[in-house]
Amino acid sequence: MAELSASSSASAAPPADDALVSVRHLVKAFGKTRALDDVSLDVNAGETFGLIGPNGSGKTTLIRVLLGIGAPTSGEARVLGYRMPDRRVASQIGYMSQASVLYSDLSVRENLAFFGALYGLRGAGLAARITATLELVDLADRRDTAVGVLSGGMRQRVSLAAALIHQPRLLFLDEPTVGIDPELRLQFWDYFERLNQQGVTILVSTHALDEAKRCHRLALLRFGKLIALDTPAALLLASGQEDFDQAFLYYARRDESADSAAATVAHTSAAHE
Ligand SMILES: Nc1ncnc2c1ncn2[C@@H]1O[C@H](COP(=O)(O)OP(=O)(O)O)[C@@H](O)[C@H]1O
Ligand SMILES: [Mg+2]
Repeated sequence: MAELSASSSASAAPPADDALVSVRHLVKAFGKTRALDDVSLDVNAGETFGLIGPNGSGKTTLIRVLLGIGAPTSGEARVLGYRMPDRRVASQIGYMSQASVLYSDLSVRENLAFFGALYGLRGAGLAARITATLELVDLADRRDTAVGVLSGGMRQRVSLAAALIHQPRLLFLDEPTVGIDPELRLQFWDYFERLNQQGVTILVSTHALDEAKRCHRLALLRFGKLIALDTPAALLLASGQEDFDQAFLYYARRDESADSAAATVAHTSAAHE
């Protein structure tokens, strides 16, 4: 706690009491690339928090650091109070990646039983979780179907059920709706809303700006930097734009001109030395 409050600039206040995720001055570099460049943010209990940014803006890198895959280069990331990476967090968080983790020759139920067993679920408890997650994604009637013969959209719904089998209170979704048809995208957001109403805190990344309004708060990322963070309504209002595509461009341009102003200042002060 002391180390956190020692560095309390406006963008890096101590974590809120109900923050499940707390990121401070996080830098993650790959060689010369700063995939994350001094990012500070909190995700509060009960929120659906969106990470918005184009390809390469650092969304996956942030989620991977929060999952404990790869340590920060500098700064810190806390999940459920633990400074990441920390193995103790795994049993309490759910994660759905873009890549399928399902076994196509096993049935829906067998897949979920496999993932449940990884988390130590057995017997009646496991059966109850399988029923509950399949109901959530409207697949109760497909429990005995082999995953390999399901449609892509249904497989993605099974992946979501698998990420939820151990009843995590915090869920990380990395571009969960990429490459799926518009109807299913809406359906997925309805599932996320249901989950959120059941008390699950969600961190979801997307580059589909029309999905932004379904989140309680948004962090806009660009080249690894946090360029804006607020509710969707406040971000739209402050930008003076009508939609998120335009608003994102507004914040991107603002960030660009701040960069060039900073470069000018640095250049000027260097000239005076
Ligand atoms: N393992 C890695 N090695 C080298 N560069 C990486 C690695 N992972 C990500 N990057 C780079 O970091 C930047 C951010 O990538 P990423 O987090 O995947 O963005 P996003 O998920 O927003 O598309 C990109 O420039 C990407 O090339
Ligand atoms: Mg990504």
